[in-house]
Amino acid sequence: MLLTRIDHVAIAVHDLDAAIDYHRRAFGAEVCHREIVDRDGVEEALLEVGGSFIQLTTPTRPDSPVATFLDKRGEGLHHIGYRVDDCASALKAVVAAGGRAIDEQPRPGSRGTIIAFVHPTGSYGTLIELVEEPV
Ligand code: CO
Repeated sequence: MLLTRIDHVAIAVHDLDAAIDYHRRAFGAEVCHREIVDRDGVEEALLEVGGSFIQLTTPTRPDSPVATFLDKRGEGLHHIGYRVDDCASALKAVVAAGGRAIDEQPRPGSRGTIIAFVHPTGSYGTLIELVEEPV
């Protein structure tokens, strides 16, 4: 088994502060990490739930993939992050099983993680992010 936990569930939102406020009022959830990820054109807020995270994500520029997603699909579930011990070997296993890599090689993600995305096509309509924690 290559997966060690659900790392995060990512929800695309138009207004990050409003979404954070809703999660605080509805669930008492507090932000434990907030980061602008320039490379991906997003700002994220992480809310910890039992060692996993809800990740609220919003675009920081019009050419962000999350901006495209919001235009096409509206707000909602964007991707699921699967925690792995070794992103590179997990990515190889996914591709060998017929998954389509978006990232051919693992690359830096938020929080100092090493990540790779796998296309929804071939993964039952779900965008998957493989997430390796920093050592
Ligand atoms: Co993610």
